[in-house]
Amino acid sequence: MLVESITAERQGCEGEFISASEIIAAMSTALDLTEGQPTGHAARSCWIGMHLASQIGIGAEEKSALFYALLLKDLGCSSNASKVSYLFAADDRVVKREFKTVNWQSLWNNVRYVVSQVSPEGRTWDKLTRMLALAKQGPEGTKNLIKTRCERGAMIARRLGFSELTAQAILDLDEHWNGKGYPLGKKGHEISQLGRILNISQTIEVFWREMGLIAAKEVVKQRCGTWFEPALCRAFLRSCQERSLQRMMCCENLLTELVVFEPDQMRFSVDAAFLDRVAQGFSDVVDAKSPWTYKHSQGVAEISVGIARSIGWADDRIVSLRRAALLHDLGKLGISNRILDKPGKMTDEEFAIVKTHPRLTEEILSKVPALSELATVAGAHHERWDGRGYFRGIESSSLPLEARILMVADIFEALTAARPYRDGMPQEKVLAILEKDCGTAVCPEAYSGLLKWIDGRNVASRVEVQLEAVEKLLCGTGACS
Ligand SMILES: [Fe+2]
Ligand SMILES: [Fe+2]
Repeated sequence: MLVESITAERQGCEGEFISASEIIAAMSTALDLTEGQPTGHAARSCWIGMHLASQIGIGAEEKSALFYALLLKDLGCSSNASKVSYLFAADDRVVKREFKTVNWQSLWNNVRYVVSQVSPEGRTWDKLTRMLALAKQGPEGTKNLIKTRCERGAMIARRLGFSELTAQAILDLDEHWNGKGYPLGKKGHEISQLGRILNISQTIEVFWREMGLIAAKEVVKQRCGTWFEPALCRAFLRSCQERSLQRMMCCENLLTELVVFEPDQMRFSVDAAFLDRVAQGFSDVVDAKSPWTYKHSQGVAEISVGIARSIGWADDRIVSLRRAALLHDLGKLGISNRILDKPGKMTDEEFAIVKTHPRLTEEILSKVPALSELATVAGAHHERWDGRGYFRGIESSSLPLEARILMVADIFEALTAARPYRDGMPQEKVLAILEKDCGTAVCPEAYSGLLKWIDGRNVASRVEVQLEAVEKLLCGTGACS
């Protein structure tokens, strides 16, 4: 249930009921990307968790909180992606995906996992150096990575307006029944009931999808009383053959069918404030993916709104532009931090991967009710005036002005901020570049709007905040000592 009262204001067509559950279910696919999981991981975890909730019997309010906690459990995942990638010298999404199948309470399993994941393309010496660095961090290192993720996830859930029950479940996602989980080592009923359901549900989903139901049952039996609460294990083992649960693995309309699990009396139609919170919350997830793009989406949104205001747009048109700007880089959640944080020039192959991110943004948003109208604009932010941009390579003059404003704002924000391979540029230099590209890469109308907005401003202070974030990340890994 939402903390704030939800008004009955309708979005989209007059009188249309668009439930928050439909929106959050569709947005959860963005979180699957950053966790290295295939689309539908969070949705299937939700299906399993809601099935378990029915088996053990919990109230409507708890069920509703659980529903959102299961879908949003990985909200904090992007916040440790950069650090994971740096520590392992590997693709963060692969490291995270493989971690889900490891019983990390066993030292031997941990060693095998680290050996297999560390610096996969590196030489033996690189691997050894990384392994030593990881060993030096010890369990405290793992604990800190999980702590960052859980705390950040709970914080964003609160900002989205979800209840403390939901936030607490996300905080407890990796706590184990025997007290050997993270981050606090809570034991038994010290762990919130919804957190206990989240933990077992996500594990069942991974084993069932990757290795089948027998493997899922086996892992539940093996970890019963250690990772998982015995009552939940029994509930799963006695009901896992039920058709209503098994359908989840072959359901073609997973995201839309999922919403029946939210108790009817708790369903609500979204309002404009909720949509703004979703855009803001998910932009926080995107911006946390790399310290180099810390507050990038936020900055692009501010600049886009500034341009739109300076050319006299009405507020209702600005509202959707701001949401599109906040969400424009959603697809970056599917790109490895090995590429995003690379200190040198990207290879052609790496750049080809980066170029997929606007398409991913468009694909995700096109499936989100009440936000699907933003999909084309958000997905077009790397198109150019002369048609030599990506991912479609169409002339941006054929796109709505919203897309061209977003593109100018994106370039301006990106060039004034530092990147791993260059310093942030002074705004005069960035304006000179944009001026030169006007009519080839950049839309002249959007550029003149940017000039009007800038008139006397200076963006240098934002760069300092960003560099602080990078330094913090590197110090956390011991790289700056
Ligand atoms: Fe982008
Ligand atoms: Fe961007």
